[in-house]
Amino acid sequence: MNTTVDTKELVRTALTARALAYTPYSHFSVGAALLTESGKVYTGCNIECASYAVSNCAERTAFYKAVSNGERKFTAIAVVGGKSGAPVTVICPPCGICRQVMMEFCDPETFQIVLASGNETWKILTLDELLPMGFGPKNLK
Ligand code: THU
Repeated sequence: MNTTVDTKELVRTALTARALAYTPYSHFSVGAALLTESGKVYTGCNIECASYAVSNCAERTAFYKAVSNGERKFTAIAVVGGKSGAPVTVICPPCGICRQVMMEFCDPETFQIVLASGNETWKILTLDELLPMGFGPKNLK
């Protein structure tokens, strides 16, 4: 991972982003912190809608903020989630749609997904481990 931002800092940033989640329907708040190759961090939270299917996950919020700022290269994302208003105690694995968005912009063999269950505890998986044999841009070449 990029040495300017360490895992602990990325997890802390994801936890801070989680506080901004808009979750009046699920009451399940997720935060994400996405690290670019250049060392910049983009945050995201989940944003729900009364028309439930329109809701956006924290991971995709972070990706869309970054990509709409011109970023295209990413090295890691930290994700934290759990019941709104309560501390994070278990990991929150990204949904299938978010894994597919990661597949669009990240190298599955090297992109790291940091799943934290608290300030100091996490496990790190590659995108390839979370989305084996994923379909991505390379398949269209
Ligand atoms: N959610 C995320 O933001 N990220 C995940 O990785 C899993 C689920 C959100 C979507 C919805 O707002 C709430 O959590 C409950 O599914």
